[in-house]
Amino acid sequence: MLKQLLYRPKVAHQQQGVHVIVDNTFASPYFQRPLDLGADMVLHSISKYINGHTDVIMGAVMTSNEALAEQIGFLQNSIGTVPSPFDCYMVNRGVKTLHLRMREHQKNALAVAKALEKNPRVTKVLHPGLESHPQHELAKSQMKGFSGMITFYIKGGVKEATKFLQSVKIFCLAESLGGYESLCEHPAIMTHASVPAEHREALGISDSLIRLSVGIEDLDDLLNDIEQALAAAVQM
Ligand SMILES: Cc1ncc(COP(=O)(O)O)c(C=O)c1O
Repeated sequence: MLKQLLYRPKVAHQQQGVHVIVDNTFASPYFQRPLDLGADMVLHSISKYINGHTDVIMGAVMTSNEALAEQIGFLQNSIGTVPSPFDCYMVNRGVKTLHLRMREHQKNALAVAKALEKNPRVTKVLHPGLESHPQHELAKSQMKGFSGMITFYIKGGVKEATKFLQSVKIFCLAESLGGYESLCEHPAIMTHASVPAEHREALGISDSLIRLSVGIEDLDDLLNDIEQALAAAVQM
């Protein structure tokens, strides 16, 4: 369904009063522009790639629909959800290097994803830039590139996943994403712990799933860190 909505938002627009809203945080506006693809609204956690330095909490909603913009503006004014001048200053600084950072995130993440795919201690890797991804062609048709977000299934279960997270030295254990620094986390225990177990299972969020936000550090350092942590976590 999501595939159809993104590829042909007209399907959703045939229904009265239905709006297509895209959370574009993972891709960033540098790699994907959903308003150009027919979406009505786009959300961004600016705390992530757009600011890029993990030192601001901010969000934004964009629309090219004037009626929606007026309603959102009314809510913003009446609720008072406005960012501080200092946070705006920080984001303005950060966004100037968005294009450079995104290219580095893409380069590093694709290399890490390919290395994970070849590693016998890993059973599956999910990254839209990999040819093995079931929606790789769709992603290529609507994105200019791919960001630093990867998920992979480690061989084993929660014991091996935990050991991996304890063994990394450059990747930091944290829930956030999209900053200059590499982060890792365990969705079933951390970001998605509040999702009921049966929903997690349906979504593929198992105990062996690990999420990486690949940063812009030296690529060899990142590859070596992943390799040594996998070797420490999974006995072969
Ligand atoms: C895809 C995505 N959208 C939105 C958010 C919300 O971001 P914030 O914490 O800046 O409100 C997050 C937070 O992790 C996210 O991962």
